[in-house]
Amino acid sequence: MSDKIKILKDKKAQAKLGGGQKRIDSQHGKKKLTARERVEYLLDDGSFEEIGMLVEHRTSDFGMDKEKYPGDGVITGYGTINGRLVYIFAQDFTVFGGSLSETHAEKICKVMDMALRVGAPMIGLNDSGGARIQEGVRSLGGYADIFYKNVQSSGVIPQISAIMGPCAGGAVYSPAMTDFTMMVENTSYMFVTGPNVVKTVTNETVTAEELGGASTHSTKSGVAHTTSANDVECLEDVKKLLSYLPQNNSELPENYPFELGDELRPNLDEIIPESSTKPYDMKEVIHEIIDEDSFFEIHKDFAENIVVGFARLGGRSIGIIANNPMFLAGCLDVDSSIKAARFTRFCDAFNIPLLVLEDVPGFLPGTDQEWNGIIVHGAKLLYALSEATVPKVTVITRKAYGGAYDVMNSKHIGADMNFAWPTAEIAVMGAKGASEIIFKKEIAEADDHEAKLAEKEKEYAELFATPYEAAKRGFIDEVILPQNTRRKLIKAFAMLEGKVVEGPKRKHGNIPL
Ligand code: HXC
Repeated sequence: MSDKIKILKDKKAQAKLGGGQKRIDSQHGKKKLTARERVEYLLDDGSFEEIGMLVEHRTSDFGMDKEKYPGDGVITGYGTINGRLVYIFAQDFTVFGGSLSETHAEKICKVMDMALRVGAPMIGLNDSGGARIQEGVRSLGGYADIFYKNVQSSGVIPQISAIMGPCAGGAVYSPAMTDFTMMVENTSYMFVTGPNVVKTVTNETVTAEELGGASTHSTKSGVAHTTSANDVECLEDVKKLLSYLPQNNSELPENYPFELGDELRPNLDEIIPESSTKPYDMKEVIHEIIDEDSFFEIHKDFAENIVVGFARLGGRSIGIIANNPMFLAGCLDVDSSIKAARFTRFCDAFNIPLLVLEDVPGFLPGTDQEWNGIIVHGAKLLYALSEATVPKVTVITRKAYGGAYDVMNSKHIGADMNFAWPTAEIAVMGAKGASEIIFKKEIAEADDHEAKLAEKEKEYAELFATPYEAAKRGFIDEVILPQNTRRKLIKAFAMLEGKVVEGPKRKHGNIPL
């Protein structure tokens, strides 16, 4: 008996050593944790249970039968984060560079299946040289099995990908199909084809970091939803993100204990500048409204003209979508529409109510936008917000012009409660543009064109650049004092908690992709 126990212990000890101490040291030398250290850090102490620790690859080509490591380059299993069940895989770069073999893929698929059956989040810690080159198409098949399961799980359980090392070639498509891609600065990169292929095909010289590092994907492409300075911060972000999410699409996110007080925020009465063309930071509005320090921003450095993220409001988890006049005057453009549409669909799939804070002068004009398809991309946001059945509340702080008024969670597309501040300007277009069109003749005939334009502009602004025309028609439910916003929103979301909407029967809608 004791011999057999020793055999088991030796096997487990060998598995825990991954590709060996030398490669572990090399991993640490790159300022990266090992896969096992990452799992231990992420999960509650002592909660991790490993599945498939002794799995080995089945390849004999290229002398591979003599080189086997128990676990085959990926650690899989389940555990808890703040007491909540999660399933996890962590690729072990010390074993064949974390590359994906047929068996490595089978291990990942096994925990993905369990996560879906049980209804708990799936977390992937990616650190891999891609397809196990010695296995050829078997490895590609393994990837496709994972991709397929990503899609089956989409909208049923939250799927989170942390990119903590290389992630190249077709391997990028699994993270891309999960809900969140979280990258570590300087040690992770993602690209479909690496710098060498780029040089050969396009003659561009580019480093891996420039091509697909965390900074590139968080600012230029939007592939990364968050970035962190190191492994530990990334894992902390995974934990924080998870705290806003339910276990699956049939549950609600956890409500934190909360008791309603006066909730007044007088600073909000001062936040809108005198001049309607002067910017202010919508993030300040967000911070005044939500529970203290509860904002978790997504896509912080991408398409900054719209802000999206999770927060708590009266202890309740909500998703926020907010135009930010600090960037491009808060206009909607291609990137911001895509960003907000994707976020909307995530929140809707996982029963997270939506708050829209609106200050939008319209869609960004220009050939760049038109040629890049602002029509179809803007339609994504319109579609996503129209389709969402979670509680939806809007606050118009200042501008709500043109088509963007309709798009940004207007009453007409199914918002439940629409508030406006007295500073709201709700109209077809800005007063100047409108006056130039409708009073063209009068202005042309006037002795002083400028004075006439200013007079007409004032007239138009007084009549239309207010919330009151919309309020008269019930398009706005209530014009509120800014300082009351937090209280009104807490009550509105509490009131909407039992909202149920049954959509028409169909296979799926056809969102303009
Ligand atoms: C097998 C691999 C491997 C791979 C790395 N290794 N990638 N083994 N298959 N894909 C092994 C190396 O042989 C080495 O083994 C160890 O992992 C560490 O690799 P190094 O090169 O020493 O590390 P580093 O210098 O940090 O470079 C990491 C790397 C590089 C940039 C990832 O290894 C690399 O370029 N690998 C190949 C990447 C690639 O082309 N993959 C296939 C992409 S196509 P030893 O024994 O020395 O420790 C693809 C298609 C997916 O993935 C399609 C899905 C649909």
